[in-house]
Amino acid sequence: MNVYPFQAPAQEQPLPAPLLRVQDLSIDYASGAGIVRATHQVSFDVYAGDRFVLLGPSGCGKSTLLKAVGGFVQPASGGLLLRGRRIVKPGPDRIVVFQEFDQLPPWKTVQQNVMFPLLAGGAKRKEAGARALHWLDKVGLSRFADAYPHTLSGGMKARVAIARALAMQPDILLMDEPFAALDALTRRRMQEELQALWEEAGFTMLFVTHSIEEALVVGNRILLLSPHPGRVRAEVNSHQFGLASSGSAEFQAAAQRIHGLLFGEELQRSACDAGAGTAVAVHS
Ligand SMILES: Nc1ncnc2c1ncn2[C@@H]1O[C@H](COP(=O)(O)OP(=O)(O)O)[C@@H](O)[C@H]1O
Ligand SMILES: [Mg+2]
Repeated sequence: MNVYPFQAPAQEQPLPAPLLRVQDLSIDYASGAGIVRATHQVSFDVYAGDRFVLLGPSGCGKSTLLKAVGGFVQPASGGLLLRGRRIVKPGPDRIVVFQEFDQLPPWKTVQQNVMFPLLAGGAKRKEAGARALHWLDKVGLSRFADAYPHTLSGGMKARVAIARALAMQPDILLMDEPFAALDALTRRRMQEELQALWEEAGFTMLFVTHSIEEALVVGNRILLLSPHPGRVRAEVNSHQFGLASSGSAEFQAAAQRIHGLLFGEELQRSACDAGAGTAVAVHS
């Protein structure tokens, strides 16, 4: 792996142990046509408090990687460690928010939807109710606690799904293109709210998207994956970007650079040309 620092490195600090370590992970699916390799030798580390984004074109294995972290898919080779322990099955320390919010059972109210996994995990009804209200308040939905999902807009359903996940207090929140089905304005608003929630609650998330702009807005670190089968192209620091900077020249330049890295246009030159002090590690 070649690393291109764009600024003199600060005094070397020993890194803390990663919360999540993904090492040389390859995943295969058996299909009618034989074995399909979805991801090939993918490695990355997520630290507590990261907003870590997996970015790549459709079919590059982003959902597969997220499912492997969730414990729903087993590796062909390589492995995953959460807090130093091997991930072998799903657990309440990793909660997934999907794009399809119609995963909310329609016969339960908003509050009951948020309470449901808490009760399933053994919480007392009163405590689950209070915790659900607490998180519904955080996402601005306390007034809708008694509403049913079909009466909510897409953005509101997304907020319920996020409240439900965060109420479980997972070690890591896994989000698979959670805003992809929303209209552009609602999507932007949700990105803003997610950022505000992260600042307030300080959780760790692993976020999947195929949108370069969304990756820059949402993430502090972005892993770029090649088209099928997904391999690591590069890792980019993006903490300096947010919604506020999304129209800026630096943001546009970073988006261009990532596009070049993703689609292999003069991989190394793009990395070296990067301005704005963004450190890019290009994996060979
Ligand atoms: N259950 C499955 N059975 C067979 N192939 C699958 C299955 N799920 C995904 N794949 C294949 O694995 C590759 C990666 O899929 P996926 O992880 O869904 O990509 P992404 O989320 O980046 O669009 C694709 O080629 C897809 O067709
Ligand atoms: Mg996907």
